[in-house]
Amino acid sequence: MERTFAYLKPNSIQRGLVGEIIRRIEEKGFKIVALKMLRISESRARELYREHAGKEFYEPLLAFVQSGPVVAMILEGEDAVKRLRVLVGKTDPTEAYPGSIRGSFGVSVRKNLIHASDSVESAEREARIFFDESEINDYSLVI
Ligand code: CMP
Repeated sequence: MERTFAYLKPNSIQRGLVGEIIRRIEEKGFKIVALKMLRISESRARELYREHAGKEFYEPLLAFVQSGPVVAMILEGEDAVKRLRVLVGKTDPTEAYPGSIRGSFGVSVRKNLIHASDSVESAEREARIFFDESEINDYSLVI
């Protein structure tokens, strides 16, 4: 089963959308194998977004993701990386399909509610920034 990584950005928590977003993720059949609320340190934020270093939105993005607690998770499912990206919607909420998470609740490209890894390799790298191996749970989904 493929694994992917996602985290709910501070505005999802501040707007009381944690339950709604996780409900959509579970409803779509993803299995949550790791989940926690935390504040992202500056070093973790820089590591997470290192590919964007130097871009004009990089520093404001780092400040935003550190502005409050986030909810990080590792999800399992068939073709999980791609399927979660579809459910999340395009980076810019104004271009995201209305049924997607960003299309439903997103207001700006910076405050786009949720990050989802864009490949299996980034999912592994990003999951390691937030979770130890011992925090990943093994269990069966009972339908
Ligand atoms: P995310 O999926 O977390 O990956 C990189 C983030 O950078 C992205 O979501 C946006 O929040 C942010 N981002 C990308 N492009 C822009 C932009 N043009 N202006 C502001 N923020 C951006």
